[in-house]
Amino acid sequence: MSETAKIILDGKEYNLPVVEGSENEKAIDISQLRAQSGYITLDYGYKNTGSTSSAITFLDGEKGILRYRGYSIEDLAENSSFMEVAYLLIYGELPSKDVFEKFDQNIRKHTLIHEDIKKILDGFPSKSHPMGVLSSLVTTQTAFYPESLDPSRSPEGVDLSIIRILAKMPTFVAWAHKHKLGHPVVYPNVNMDYCSNMLQMMFKMPGNDYDVDPVVSNALDKLLILHADHEQNCSTSTVRITGSSRASLYASVSAGINALWGPLHGGANQAVIEMLENIKADGGDTKKWMAKAKDKDDPFRLMGFGHRVYKNFDPRARIIKKAADDVLEKLGIQDPVLDVAKGLEAEALSDDYFVERKLYPNVDFYSGIIYRALGIPVDMFTVMFALGRLPGWIAQWKEMRENSEPIGRPRQVYVGENLRPYVPLSKR
Ligand code: SDX
Repeated sequence: MSETAKIILDGKEYNLPVVEGSENEKAIDISQLRAQSGYITLDYGYKNTGSTSSAITFLDGEKGILRYRGYSIEDLAENSSFMEVAYLLIYGELPSKDVFEKFDQNIRKHTLIHEDIKKILDGFPSKSHPMGVLSSLVTTQTAFYPESLDPSRSPEGVDLSIIRILAKMPTFVAWAHKHKLGHPVVYPNVNMDYCSNMLQMMFKMPGNDYDVDPVVSNALDKLLILHADHEQNCSTSTVRITGSSRASLYASVSAGINALWGPLHGGANQAVIEMLENIKADGGDTKKWMAKAKDKDDPFRLMGFGHRVYKNFDPRARIIKKAADDVLEKLGIQDPVLDVAKGLEAEALSDDYFVERKLYPNVDFYSGIIYRALGIPVDMFTVMFALGRLPGWIAQWKEMRENSEPIGRPRQVYVGENLRPYVPLSKR
């Protein structure tokens, strides 16, 4: 007998089925609740509400577990590559050597973007935030590839749309960066791997050679792996609900980029560095800023701390913190902001306010330290998060479409005015 949840409403008993996942997570299926009882549930921010069942990523917030298709993030960050992880997330299995080589070559073949993108870029003032530029450039792909508007007409259409956006995103990111600097764009090099090509497009200057430092390329590849998916977070839920109206992959990814932009989500990595710089400039008095973070009358929050799911530690933060030490040592960089970060972390981990609320460093707390060491400017940090999250957004959009999920349309509890008659202007 499968488990059921019993609720009693207005003296009537209702039995709702219980769903159990492959990692023993349990949920009450309320899909028939309103039809049977007239009641809906209410859960601001969906803190206790599952929007779907998914086979892509598993998180355990209490144990600090993160797995992509069953493989631990620690295993993948240590042994895999971002392109291989992208394939795993999207298609469900680690590719054979031959399949991966074909996939990788196909990606390299599609890295070039239409020359008309330069005209679109020129329409953006140089001070434009690159996240707004990126979401716009992704949307333009619906114009250059109108067949992408409904890729599900054929499985080949979906795969081609996936390859194109995976391949072209680094070029969009690099060209947005060059546009902001007022530098000429650098074209993709099909003879380079994903991260080396990304770096040369971002940092090569006309007339100069650009030698990719393997320390930098490997650190970037690891960061992108760590950002690749994170189940039903804010931006991924945005991608899924956008795609649920049968909007195209490109339109859905563009919506996800804009959701990620917020400082409570992907925008936190930029906000962390700005916060650490402020604390350093303010004399490094971490106790003062910790007090501000705890003061309910003070809007200041300790950016890079806390998480909706991780109530122990964010496994990605642990890996990134070690990688930050490694990269700075290998590159011979002394970053005083890293010392401020470590001081803040030590204080927060022993502070009752943070311990009681289970607030620990999240993925954004240390990632900016590495991006800085790699020479990436602060306003490009969230763009790098979007680059890393793209395979996850694609995988989740594809899963939602393959499962023919219904259009997302939450309910509400109305708390506005009751019926009242119109009053003509002359009488108001
Ligand atoms: C990402 O969902 C994902 O998976 C996201 C992500 C991904 O990979 O996609 O992991 C990426 O977005 C990481 C989070 C990046 N954001 C930040 O670092 C911004 C700072 N953190 C917070 O704003 C906050 O912790 C959130 C948004 C991350 C989580 O917020 P919740 O789950 O809604 O928790 P809450 O706001 O209800 O806070 C609970 C309590 C509150 O205090 P009380 O009302 O109980 O007294 O903790 C406090 C909050 O005031 N609190 C903080 C705090 N975060 C929570 N207090 C000070 N500093 C903080 N950072």
